[in-house]
Amino acid sequence: MPALVERLGAVARGGRYILGPEVEAFESELAAYLGVRHCVGVGNGTDAITIALRALGVGPGDEVVCPSFTFYATVEATISAGATPVFCDVDPRTFCVTGETVAAAVTPRTRAIVPVHLFGNVAPMDELRELGLPLLEDAAQAAGARLGGLRAGALGDAATFSFFPSKNLPCLGDGGAIATDDDDVARAARRLRFHGSDDKRTFVDVGYNSRLDELQAAVLRVLLGELDGWNDARRAAADGYVRHGLGEHVELPLAVAGVEHVYHLYVVRSERADELAATLGERGIGARGYYRVPVHRQPATAAYARGGLRLPGTDEVARTHLALPIGPELTEDQIREVVAACASGST
Ligand SMILES: Cc1ncc(COP(=O)(O)O)c(C=O)c1O
Repeated sequence: MPALVERLGAVARGGRYILGPEVEAFESELAAYLGVRHCVGVGNGTDAITIALRALGVGPGDEVVCPSFTFYATVEATISAGATPVFCDVDPRTFCVTGETVAAAVTPRTRAIVPVHLFGNVAPMDELRELGLPLLEDAAQAAGARLGGLRAGALGDAATFSFFPSKNLPCLGDGGAIATDDDDVARAARRLRFHGSDDKRTFVDVGYNSRLDELQAAVLRVLLGELDGWNDARRAAADGYVRHGLGEHVELPLAVAGVEHVYHLYVVRSERADELAATLGERGIGARGYYRVPVHRQPATAAYARGGLRLPGTDEVARTHLALPIGPELTEDQIREVVAACASGST
């Protein structure tokens, strides 16, 4: 893309590489796009969660409710913030937490909830808000998605994004951001991303070295302009799967009510998910399960699963989910091919 090369060249020649005009401009542009007052660029989506939780005042002794069916980083980052993760279940149809699954994990020590907008869906934030606890959206997989007309990232007390190259809004390496309407949270996040200092001379907190760099911000400023078009194309591909009868062979993903899904991944369910993946693989079609072992069963984090913890929705989707090809460039012929392969593999 010539515009990208042009921008990268300009930044390279400009001599400002950390926390300069590109980061500042991208933060404003992303905030305007999301409809929030502040965005703070950070090193990656994992640091974004740790920093955002700390900026919300979460720390040691606090419990944070997280789904177990998510990328490991959601929970890892919560532990890095000093908090204790408490696992909750998901609705197998949407892959997202619900008011009911979160409520079952809330205790008097709960200080925050981290709903994950998994696979480009958006968790039912209205139900979650009724629980009366701070909400940190993990929107790493949902850039551009909407719920009730509002963007993912503008629905909680704060939100986090990842710009890892496979994400809907990618950069050319690692990058992340925190979005919030709260001036104090934004100020704390800015301080924490720069070693706990506001002025680079006085260090008032033990923070992090976690900045979005100028080159990545320059890339993101260009690609933010493409995001809505790419998401429209992802939705068109998802519609194609429906039109071509994929639902006759596997369980299709369900958007949460009121959500404009952005299909970061197109994830179906099948009792024979791995066999189906093998059949697709034989035809040269990439398909896989992302989270076969949910976080509450991972070696590093199983100890946080309280005795007797039951997460039936999580166990079901861990076993049955399968991500099929999706992307802005998926053609009608490719969609037809995937559906035909699913038809042959599901009989
Ligand atoms: C749901 C979720 N949360 C957090 C992260 C962490 O983002 P990053 O890889 O930028 O640290 C990712 C992405 O990898 C993710 O998918």
